[in-house]
Amino acid sequence: MTRETEAMTESLSVSVWRGGAVGAFREYSVPRRASQTVLDVVTHIQRRIDPTLAYRFACRVGMCGSCAMTVNGVARWTCRTHVARVAPHGRLEIAPLANLPVIRDLVCDLDVFFEKWQRARGRFEPSAPASTDFARIAPDSGERRAAEAGIECIGCAVCYASCDVVAWNPAYLGPAALNRAWTLMNDARDAAHGARLRAVAGDAGCHACHTQLSCTERCPKGISPTAGIAGLKRMSVRALIRGAL
Ligand code: SF4
Ligand code: SF4
Ligand code: FES
Repeated sequence: MTRETEAMTESLSVSVWRGGAVGAFREYSVPRRASQTVLDVVTHIQRRIDPTLAYRFACRVGMCGSCAMTVNGVARWTCRTHVARVAPHGRLEIAPLANLPVIRDLVCDLDVFFEKWQRARGRFEPSAPASTDFARIAPDSGERRAAEAGIECIGCAVCYASCDVVAWNPAYLGPAALNRAWTLMNDARDAAHGARLRAVAGDAGCHACHTQLSCTERCPKGISPTAGIAGLKRMSVRALIRGAL
């Protein structure tokens, strides 16, 4: 690195959204550090420069899903996003997630996001009482593999914020809720397959997806909601042909 480049990158120029639905970006200068994450930058601002900045995080290790923000125009989990990867020239713009109401600064209201999980019947509904012996699911069965591919979702809403269809059609259930429904549709122990398929096959459900893949490209857990949504489309068409929908 030349002396000139070093000097350019000693501190980061950071624009941070302040306010709610109406607000403005405010500029901060933050010291650049080795292995610094975007969440480290936001934390530095809140602890050292402006304690009124509102943001959210919990685990700092990519498990809780609470730290997602829009970083230089792209939705990301901030605790595992290194500044060096997203801001090679030392400029960061940090905003709340898109497609969700802003409570304050970098904090969004996730009610609508999780209400859609409920509308998609995104909870396990057991077909046997808890006292029953463990169900035995073959690990290499097609259903188990399909569920496995989507099960590590941490509810971060990165996919939801990245989906243009959600932006155009606020009723659309969105990639995370549909991915959750897909994992349950592949769970042999679940008793609500018919009701769940009806819940996700409507106008605001899987058939509204335009297969643009932004959710899949940006999911930090490597999940492909697009693939699960395609699976739900196939399932619902088959059910329709059978007269079961
Ligand atoms: S693939 Fe479907 S759910 Fe995913 S971002 Fe595109 S339109 Fe949204
Ligand atoms: S599918 Fe991926 S991007 Fe969407 S909420 Fe789950 S972990 Fe986050
Ligand atoms: S703080 Fe938990 S995922 Fe980032």
